[in-house]
Amino acid sequence: MIKENLSQAPGPIGVFDSGYGGLTILSKIKELLPEYDYIYLGDNARAPYGTRSFEIVYEFTLQAVNKLFEMGCHLVILACNTASAKALRTIQMNDLPNIDPARRVLGVIRPTVESIGAITQSRHIGVLGTTGTIKSESYPLEIHKLYPDIQVSGEACPMWVALVENNEAQSLGADYFVQKHIDNLMHKDHEIDTIILGCTHYPLLLHKIKRFVPEGVTIVAQGEYVARSLKDYFHRHPEMDAKCTKEGKRLFYTTEAADKFSESASIFLNENIEVQRISLE
Ligand code: DGL
Repeated sequence: MIKENLSQAPGPIGVFDSGYGGLTILSKIKELLPEYDYIYLGDNARAPYGTRSFEIVYEFTLQAVNKLFEMGCHLVILACNTASAKALRTIQMNDLPNIDPARRVLGVIRPTVESIGAITQSRHIGVLGTTGTIKSESYPLEIHKLYPDIQVSGEACPMWVALVENNEAQSLGADYFVQKHIDNLMHKDHEIDTIILGCTHYPLLLHKIKRFVPEGVTIVAQGEYVARSLKDYFHRHPEMDAKCTKEGKRLFYTTEAADKFSESASIFLNENIEVQRISLE
């Protein structure tokens, strides 16, 4: 079954996040795959998702995926760990068959997890994420599917998204919250040699995170792994590649006020962009 309002013509790649964090993923994807067209959708009016229930994150994410499909996307990347953890599987298994079985939704957790087997030496890794992502246990579950020998410790950092969204990532106040959660994580397991930034907002705090992480610990930001995995996906799925238009264009949509989004988005992208407001309800 294919929903009637969906066009079968090739279209842009959809990139979805609760807010601005997915822009860190989009910028890495665009670096590696500049020829493709992209639509970015941030549900800023309802962000953050990190503290919301499974049902709500699923409902909001499905609305966003449907909107991106209606806008012509055949492939949507959930550039949000919280949505990947709480909504991806259900959308793939239960919703896609009824919407259009040929469309695809991919997340950011699997590509990140695939990368760490070759990075960790001690086989002890840490994951920093939102409360929702850490509570979902998605990282340990995915990691153990591929690497049963790796020990995983998680730490929820509920303030970090707020620091980034409120442009406080450079402030002295941010030091306190960054150090607190790094220390908590390292106390859980002293042998950690690799830390995954399991939230797409966290690369904006990278300079501070590096200051408080013990020497020799590798920090894994997701963008480049997601980008490489997408490139690989297109090699393995030429039929999906053919459904993606390639004129190097990007469109940005937000559920919040457009000027607010474009101002903050420039921090993430280092450039000025044009944004339009849309509603998902
Ligand atoms: N960027 C989202 C993630 O990767 C978190 C932001 C939020 O809590 O909405 O999990």
